[in-house]
Amino acid sequence: MLYALARPLLFALDAERAHELTLGLADAPLRFGLLRVARAPGAPVRAMGLEFPNAVGLAAGFDKNAAHVDALARLGFGFLEVGTVTPRPQPGNARPRLFRLPRAQALINRMGFNNAGVEAFLDNLQRASFRGVLGINIGKNADTPIERAADDYAACLERVYARASYVTVNVSSPNTKNLRDLQENRQLEALLARLAAQRDALSERHGRRVPLALKVAPDLDPKQVQGIADAVRRHGIDGVIATNTSLAREGVEGLAHADEAGGLSGAPIRERSTATLAAFAAALKGEAALIGVGGILSGEHAVEKLAAGASLVQLYTGLIYRGPDLVAECISACRERSRTASTASR
Ligand SMILES: Cc1cc2nc3c(=O)[nH]c(=O)nc-3n(C[C@H](O)[C@H](O)[C@H](O)COP(=O)(O)O)c2cc1C
Repeated sequence: MLYALARPLLFALDAERAHELTLGLADAPLRFGLLRVARAPGAPVRAMGLEFPNAVGLAAGFDKNAAHVDALARLGFGFLEVGTVTPRPQPGNARPRLFRLPRAQALINRMGFNNAGVEAFLDNLQRASFRGVLGINIGKNADTPIERAADDYAACLERVYARASYVTVNVSSPNTKNLRDLQENRQLEALLARLAAQRDALSERHGRRVPLALKVAPDLDPKQVQGIADAVRRHGIDGVIATNTSLAREGVEGLAHADEAGGLSGAPIRERSTATLAAFAAALKGEAALIGVGGILSGEHAVEKLAAGASLVQLYTGLIYRGPDLVAECISACRERSRTASTASR
């Protein structure tokens, strides 16, 4: 309700400035204990060997530096995914780099992994009191040659391991040159082999096996889906997050900003993301958990992802258009679905 009043003011600002302001404000009431958000009781979900209090998570990129986890946790999410974080700090692309397409309930972004680097990221987490399920999404620095990308992922995995509930290997951002090439057979094989071996070693050292998830693009053909699914299975990757933003422009043709370079998110990618999710569900046959993300703007859309094979869902663009009430709406819808599904299976 409050968000309906704030939205026109926020939408009058540059999109990235509005995001920074919202996160700043979200932290403020926490200090005074004033934030009141509609909380919905959720149905717990077990996936990737973890227990989630409900199925609805925050997608990566919303809190790239893990600087607002306590405030975001108060919105009722069952889990938070923070990052993408890279080994070293980097500024990302020049502004403006985030654009709203309100008539399509969409965003286009070419942020380019702007972040404060893994050490500052861990310092932020050190200050947070959040102890819920925390996904940490890792990537490579823009100036690391793509042939050395695995070194960056390995460096991040090593540093974040102790603090993560699960770690997401992001090979699907369209805004880091050649990153998506890491989804191709040979490169993915080498990357996952290295990270899986490193995870085994870290698991020994820390006495805790942290699940690994792979985040994929919605712009994959069936052969690519099969290749990625085979690699996921071969290396014991625990989850697939489908999907990141899209390079397609279907559904936004002719709108202001539609021709900006970057990844499209929100309503226009919903079907494409869900189709990708369903393709992974068919290829993986339950051998890895699926997290559905892309274009969820209502509880019904969240349920659509579950019906396509996801155990969990994540939100980003929907939060910009619908505000924090979307979280409770999705939690209730997912809970209702799990209730009817368990009644039907009795
Ligand atoms: C401004 C912005 C920044 C993003 N940054 C990241 C990121 O750093 N890492 C990542 O894995 N995904 C990132 N994403 C992708 C989202 O996590 C999500 O996969 C995508 O937007 C589709 O979901 P949506 O339609 O609900 O937004 C970003 C999305 C947006 C809009």
